[in-house]
Amino acid sequence: MLIKVSKSLTLLVLAFVFFSFSKNIYLETEQKNELKEIYQEKPSRKSIQAGYILYTANCVRCHESSGIDKMNLFPPLAKSDYLLKDQKRAIKIVLFGAKGSMKVNGKIYRGKMSGESHLSDREVADLMNYINHSWGNKGKITTKSMVKKIRESR
Ligand code: HEC
Repeated sequence: MLIKVSKSLTLLVLAFVFFSFSKNIYLETEQKNELKEIYQEKPSRKSIQAGYILYTANCVRCHESSGIDKMNLFPPLAKSDYLLKDQKRAIKIVLFGAKGSMKVNGKIYRGKMSGESHLSDREVADLMNYINHSWGNKGKITTKSMVKKIRESR
């Protein structure tokens, strides 16, 4: 009887140790990936590809697949000085939208864009990585934790 109890107790302890250990491994790889992203000059292809899919679903109807202002209505994202100048501001626009006036590549736009705050931090980072690295844009890298910070600072 005593042996049986101590056996199951050992098993329980082992299971607990294994569980906390595997959780640590997981957290470590997550953190490592984040660090890897920050020190890379370009976002991963995986992130840009995920961003392309999100862009097609959420942004293309106004900003066009080419990122240019085709209808003379929505500001361009391709080679946009406004986008590339201030990364934080661009993340804020994607999350919370924009209204009023803004000058993009020398032209004043007075429109309204609603935010996409339902997208996850990862998704917004992927979107940013896509628009900052498409159509000849050479923007910075956006990480999940940058988006998280901006979302929380509001
Ligand atoms: C309904 C149309 C519409 C949709 C959809 C839309 N936008 Fe916009 N976007 C606008 C308008 C209009 C402005 C300018 C707002 C203003 O004048 O204040 C803008 C401005 C911007 C800007 C800053 C200006 C620039 O050109 O650099 C960025 C960046 C941007 N949008 C990204 C996105 C992204 C990414 C998505 C998809 C998640 C998206 N937009 C979806 C209409 C839209």
